[in-house]
Amino acid sequence: MPGTQTVKRPRPIESMAAPRFAAGVRPYREAYWDPGYEPNPTDILCAFRIQPKPGVDFVEAAAAIAAESSTGTWTEVWSNALTEIERYKARCYRIEGDIAYIAYPIDLFEEGSIVNIMSSVVGNVFGFKAVAALKLEDMRIPYALVKTFPGPTTGIENERARLNKYGRPLLGGTVKPKLGLSPRPYAKVVYECLVGGLDTTKDDENMNSQPFNRWRDRFLFVMEAVRKAEAETGEAKGHWLNVTAPTTEDALERTEYAAQLGSRYIMSDYLTMGFAAHQSVVNRAVKLGLMVHVHRAMHAVIDRQKHHGISFLVLAKWLRLAGGDHLHTGTVVGKLEGDRAATMAIADMLRKDVVPANPSVGLYFDQEWASLKTVFPVASGGIHVHHIPALYAIYGNDAFWLFGGGTHGHPGGSRAGARANRVATEAIAQGLTLEQAAKDCPELREAMELWKDISFED
Ligand code: 3PG
Ligand code: 3PG
Ligand code: MG
Repeated sequence: MPGTQTVKRPRPIESMAAPRFAAGVRPYREAYWDPGYEPNPTDILCAFRIQPKPGVDFVEAAAAIAAESSTGTWTEVWSNALTEIERYKARCYRIEGDIAYIAYPIDLFEEGSIVNIMSSVVGNVFGFKAVAALKLEDMRIPYALVKTFPGPTTGIENERARLNKYGRPLLGGTVKPKLGLSPRPYAKVVYECLVGGLDTTKDDENMNSQPFNRWRDRFLFVMEAVRKAEAETGEAKGHWLNVTAPTTEDALERTEYAAQLGSRYIMSDYLTMGFAAHQSVVNRAVKLGLMVHVHRAMHAVIDRQKHHGISFLVLAKWLRLAGGDHLHTGTVVGKLEGDRAATMAIADMLRKDVVPANPSVGLYFDQEWASLKTVFPVASGGIHVHHIPALYAIYGNDAFWLFGGGTHGHPGGSRAGARANRVATEAIAQGLTLEQAAKDCPELREAMELWKDISFED
């Protein structure tokens, strides 16, 4: 098999001569630039966009990244002789423009651990003096490693089956004001949205357990509201109870309580809580039969700069591995930054089993998901009824769209706002126009009138 190394057992340490060896500092490229290397199907492959510091050779910078994120350091070390460096080292095997391709042998990574992938691949090289800027654009996770991750708890198909809702995008809405409401009024807002026509509501990313709204009371009152709305509408409804907490123990306690109350859903801010805590929450959710909504708060700190950081594509791939049933992927048209082609590519990455490479949209590698379940992409942030046709063109049916301000900002309140969003979504999914739908829906007419001039284009 290409790239397979023979395993040589190191000699017993006692039998080794005193450490005289070829010491010294050699260019990284001598050991870590290997243009003839043919990646092994089990390798992790990375595409890094590199901006070397002035005066640093590009190949040397790329080889340094391969070295320092795997087995190398700045000088030769005698203890290399105690292992099989050839077997374990990463290699830069191709350079195209400012993109360097690096292959990492699978045994560099602990099974089922995003934490370990991060500590290795993006662990220290981003602060390396040889590079002025570094962006991890894409990562091919090999089939063999994908198989070691739990993935989403439920998947799109099963979630639709549980809710018995088909043929249109699903709707949600963040309770607003995002902070400041106490549990009872908060639950009233939830109830209004759900009876008005939203399928779900959600806590905002920063609604955890503040003095004005402790989690226990919020969960209790919100679940009462969900049950009441289900009884009155005859439909499945839900609220995404944010279990994000200061410690993993607290997050797990909140997860348990959500299940006790009969919730279908919990919610996790995976980046602020961290992958270890998030994976623990997902594991518990699987045992309890809960679906997990995943918010990406803080992602723009990591992914927004074109030349430095980690692309959201990679953060989304890591989420599908770690588990979660919905992931915020942006709206393109709403109030938050997001490129259309890249957003559509990320939605594919969450919903398909195999996604072919397409560097023009940021996909540098084929990615196979090894039958891992699928994730609903979620569009949220500054969207209202006029965005629905564009959202449908971007996402199609298998997505959640969340209208916060676009629900509660309706002149008739949250219930009317929810109805406008539901009627508009059903119409667009059936191939009708907003105008046609508005004929029989005064709430939609009002929403269209109110927000007719509101767009977030530059
Ligand atoms: C939300 O709570 O819906 C968000 O804060 C919107 O941000 P997003 O771009 O991560 O969806
Ligand atoms: C946010 O935090 O931006 C949201 O939760 C989305 O709310 P919006 O629909 O009012 O923009
Ligand atoms: Mg929010």
